[in-house]
Parts: sequence; C-alpha cells; structure tokens
Amino acid sequence: VEQTYIMVKPDGVQRGLVGEIISRFEKKGFKLTGLKLFQCPKDLAEEHYKDLTSRPFFPKLITYITSGPVVCMAWEGVGVVASARKLIGSTDPLQAEPGTIRGDLAVQTGRNVVHGSDSPENGKREIALWFKEGEVCHWTPALALWISE
Ligand code: GTP
Ligand code: MG
Repeated sequence: VEQTYIMVKPDGVQRGLVGEIISRFEKKGFKLTGLKLFQCPKDLAEEHYKDLTSRPFFPKLITYITSGPVVCMAWEGVGVVASARKLIGSTDPLQAEPGTIRGDLAVQTGRNVVHGSDSPENGKREIALWFKEGEVCHWTPALALWISE
C-alpha cells in the first residue's frame, strides 16, 4: 500500500492549524501510521529538500522549516500520494483552489503551512528520513471495510 509523508510546517503549528490539517486526511479516509511534534535540525531540513539546493530561495526555505516545531506524519492508503497533493493544493496558496488546505488557510508560497511527498518513492524516502524504526505503527482500522471494499 502507498505511503506519504505529510508535515505541518512551523507556520501551521504556530497558527494552531494542526488539528484542522490532520482532520482533512482523517476525514478523507486515509490511515495515520506515524505522528510526532519535532524541532527539525538544519542538516535534516537540507537533506529533505536536497533537490532544491541550487534554488535562490533555498536558504530562506531552510530557515523557515527550522524556525519552530513541525508535525511529522506518515499516512497510508490507495493512491494516498497524489490524493494528498490534491487535498493540499498548489505550492502558491493564492493559486490553490478553495477547498484545499493551502487554498483555504494560506496566502504565500514561503508560508504554505504543509508539505506532502511528490511521489511514492519520495514518500518512502521521507518517512525513513523523518521517523526512526518503531515510530511508524501498522494497524487495522475497525472501519476499514466501510472506507474501501
Ligand atoms: P512541499 O510539499 O513543501 O515539497 O511543496 P511543493 O511540492 O508544493 O513545492 P516544492 O517542492 O517545489 O517546494 C518546496 C517548498 O519550498 C514549498 O512548499 C515552499 O515552502 C518553498 N518554495 C518553493 N518555491 C518557493 C519560492 O519561490 N519562494 C519561497 N520563499 N519558497 C518557495
Ligand atoms: Mg515538494
């Protein structure tokens, strides 16, 4: 089954949006398999966003992500990677559709409240990067058969 790494960024935590953001994934029907509040060290932020190293906004991005605690999450489900990206909305919150997390809750790319993995491979890579062995919990939701047949 597909897995994705979702993270409430420091602005989302400071603004009290953690519950709202978790709710959207819960209500959709995905399964939460990992969850923690965490102060991200600089080297981890740099590794997570290593594909963006050469971009002009990279130093600002690292400052942003390490500026306060984040909420790290692993979510599981059929098609969860692409679906979570849809629920999150476009990178620029002003372009994000109403009804999406960024479309409803943010106004600027540099403060776009949440991260979601962009491929199943990166979902696996990022969960392994942000969670230690034993922090990810595999369980059977009692309502599973009411969510997918
Ligand atoms: P993530 O889910 O966080 O990976 O966002 P994304 O996949 O929608 O965008 P991308 O991976 O291209 O960029 C990662 C993050 O870098 C974005 O979510 C923004 O927080 C930040 N970022 C991207 N482009 C810009 C930019 O032009 N300016 C600033 N300040 N930040 C940017
Ligand atoms: Mg990205």
